[in-house]
Amino acid sequence: MRFTKENTTVIIEASILSADFARLGEQAREAEAAGVDAIQVDVMDGSFVPDITFGPGVVRALRPLVSLPLDVHLMVVEPEQHLEAFANAGADRLIVHQETCPHLHRTLQSIRELKIEAGVSINPGTPLSVLEEVLDLADLIQVMTVNPGWGGQLFLHSQLDKIRRLRRMLDERGLDVPNSVWPAIAVDGGIDSTTAPLVVSAGATVLIAGSSVYNDKASVAENVATLRASIK
Ligand code: DX5
Repeated sequence: MRFTKENTTVIIEASILSADFARLGEQAREAEAAGVDAIQVDVMDGSFVPDITFGPGVVRALRPLVSLPLDVHLMVVEPEQHLEAFANAGADRLIVHQETCPHLHRTLQSIRELKIEAGVSINPGTPLSVLEEVLDLADLIQVMTVNPGWGGQLFLHSQLDKIRRLRRMLDERGLDVPNSVWPAIAVDGGIDSTTAPLVVSAGATVLIAGSSVYNDKASVAENVATLRASIK
């Protein structure tokens, strides 16, 4: 399964961080049935971020259950140690954090050598300048709109300007693919029907949504429909 470059609408990815961990397969399928474009698997190692979540085994378990791309967000130290294991488990994209990659250029090359997509994520306190030398190596740049580690946090409005500046950086380098959402600017953290229009207006093309999709207020289908409608 691969990400298609033909997408011209905003991509919605369901983050399973807020799903019911006792029913991950069902919850991934619910998101697929609800019309999300991909599943984001939030990998946390208890070192880069306080919590510990999933390993390659969960990606392997999910792979046969959904026909959606699996987008693995590596919130881990030394991600280069884990690239092959997640790729072999069925990941379609690996997103590493710039903050954990002293050899970011090489790490992104390594991901692409595995024949899957490479993404890089930056925390709210990390300036865009750290990406200047790798923009052409990334299929997706993920702007964290919360400090990573938990689902259900409040959106940081301060990141809206960063999204706008990143969109300008990509445009100035001619990296935007005409009539496409690629290279993608993903936003992750506090994305719901209120904040989604704000980030899309700022230039985001991929929305990572966890607690606004998986919660006890409404069904996954209703929540995805609400999110989709907010960016119409
Ligand atoms: C970092 C995680 C979360 C998750 C989305 O903490 O990366 O941002 O994907 O969580 P929500 O959508 O609940 O903020």
